[in-house]
Amino acid sequence: MKKVILDTDTAGDDTLAILTVLDSPELELLGLTIAGGNVQFEQQVENALYTLEIAGVSGKVPVYKGHAQAMMGDHQTVEEVHGDDGMGNAYFPKAVQRAEEDKHAVDFIIEQAHKHPGELTLLAIAPLTNIAMALLKDPSIVKKIEHLYIMGGTNNALGNVTPAAEFNFLVDPEAAKIVMHAGLPITMVGWEMATRYSVMTEEDHRQVRELGTKGATFFTDINKVVEQFNTDVHRLPGTTHPDSLLVAIAGNPKIMTDSHRYYVDVETKGELTRGYSLVDVNGRLGKEPNVHVCEMVDVRLFKDTLLNALKNIT
Ligand code: RIB
Ligand code: CA
Repeated sequence: MKKVILDTDTAGDDTLAILTVLDSPELELLGLTIAGGNVQFEQQVENALYTLEIAGVSGKVPVYKGHAQAMMGDHQTVEEVHGDDGMGNAYFPKAVQRAEEDKHAVDFIIEQAHKHPGELTLLAIAPLTNIAMALLKDPSIVKKIEHLYIMGGTNNALGNVTPAAEFNFLVDPEAAKIVMHAGLPITMVGWEMATRYSVMTEEDHRQVRELGTKGATFFTDINKVVEQFNTDVHRLPGTTHPDSLLVAIAGNPKIMTDSHRYYVDVETKGELTRGYSLVDVNGRLGKEPNVHVCEMVDVRLFKDTLLNALKNIT
């Protein structure tokens, strides 16, 4: 089993990624670290605690608060995508079984890297502020982290906030740039993988409803707002699941059916392109490839992984 920390801006798809990690026989979840992103920070913490509670693991998986804001100041949250509560405006009851830990998320990441040298995998499904700040605070952890999986950026494809930029990289481009050049072994799954291979259509939603489990109801509830947003804004025929796809790949590399190592960098200054992820697929810059970029997914294997996780929340 891989020992993993999931860094999350817990809303919508992040919660399904938490359930997917918990359901994976290959992943041992050491803790959740919360970064500023999708919705108000304290709401994200609450969403994480609630998700662990419905999964029946409250008290077994600790939650650590990290940086609520990006390295270079305020960011805009996206309640229009996920609902005011980040959970499809389901307004679930507050988690009652456990509160967040006192330790800061950055200190937890550093502590676990030293505690499990060469065995810790980081799963990043949020802006990379916490990861970057941990690397800056203690650069020695680079050699101790086995792998970093990142949901973020795009591989020469349309962004989801601006045409150039995907949300996690746009919220904190400085953090993304620091992480790309820190020397870590990185696998990147861009937004275009989600739009091409993770879209759950009405037929998929029907299959979820047919499961008849608590997990199935949770999935339907939290997707109510993003389903409409995807139709209206992204012109997609269903809900997108970038975070669940990222963690499913970490738990079963067979889901990533094609990938290549490329030189990847992040634009921090562009007037129109801030947050853009440069993926040099033809090696035009002559720079050493630093990131393993996902380029193809086994859709059925991914969807079965997600359906399984929902089936098992009873
Ligand atoms: O661009 C999609 C990513 O941004 C997802 O991780 C979503 O949860 C938001 O964090
Ligand atoms: Ca996320």
